[in-house]
Amino acid sequence: MNKSIIAPSLLASDFANLQHDIEMVNQSDADWFHLDIMDGVFVPNISFGMPVVQAMAKHAQKPLDVHLMIVDPDRYIKTFAKLGVHHLAVHYEACPHLHRTLQAIKAEGMKAGVALNPHTPVSLLEDIIQDIDIVIVMSVNPGFGGQSFIENTYQKVKDLKALIERKNSSALIEIDGGVNDANAKKLVDAGADILVAGSFVFKSENPTQTIKGLKEKIA
Ligand code: DX5
Ligand code: ZN
Repeated sequence: MNKSIIAPSLLASDFANLQHDIEMVNQSDADWFHLDIMDGVFVPNISFGMPVVQAMAKHAQKPLDVHLMIVDPDRYIKTFAKLGVHHLAVHYEACPHLHRTLQAIKAEGMKAGVALNPHTPVSLLEDIIQDIDIVIVMSVNPGFGGQSFIENTYQKVKDLKALIERKNSSALIEIDGGVNDANAKKLVDAGADILVAGSFVFKSENPTQTIKGLKEKIA
């Protein structure tokens, strides 16, 4: 199996010291940057937009994993590609023509991700899983950092893993929300490939050490 990936979410970073926090991630054992884009419509919160992603991209030395929590994401696929984004994930619940959306993301040279809200069953991906590079299983309701992990996620990851294997898909499984050192290993054992961690990393005393600890837990 591939080595598991840690993607710190900059949503929990210090926005007044972004460069500092990005350099910390650059120097750490983390693998990707996770960027949460919220529009105040699909989710009840607004985070940051393109000018901030552009500023982040200038300093980030690891792949940018962008999670769009916005309605009608097709409008911005080209824009994110131009900003140098590596992975672009849309929400299943926001895309009536998901197949077309995924093709458009790939046509811009990015990996295509699909995020599932906690209430959305993985079985709905049955006919699209072969077109997906990354499935983000939301382990909290999207919109805010610092929420507690939903326990049903373990079963969901197992079901998704079974679906991926049955369909011969190469999709990776990413877990987003409430990840910490108490659930990290169990998630990877259930089939997760990528763990997003926001508050657990940035609100800790020593974020570099926290990332290292998480990597060791799932090694
Ligand atoms: C939630 C976001 C997450 C968030 C995770 O809507 O998608 O990426 O930053 O934060 P924590 O790890 O604090 O739950
Ligand atoms: Zn996210």
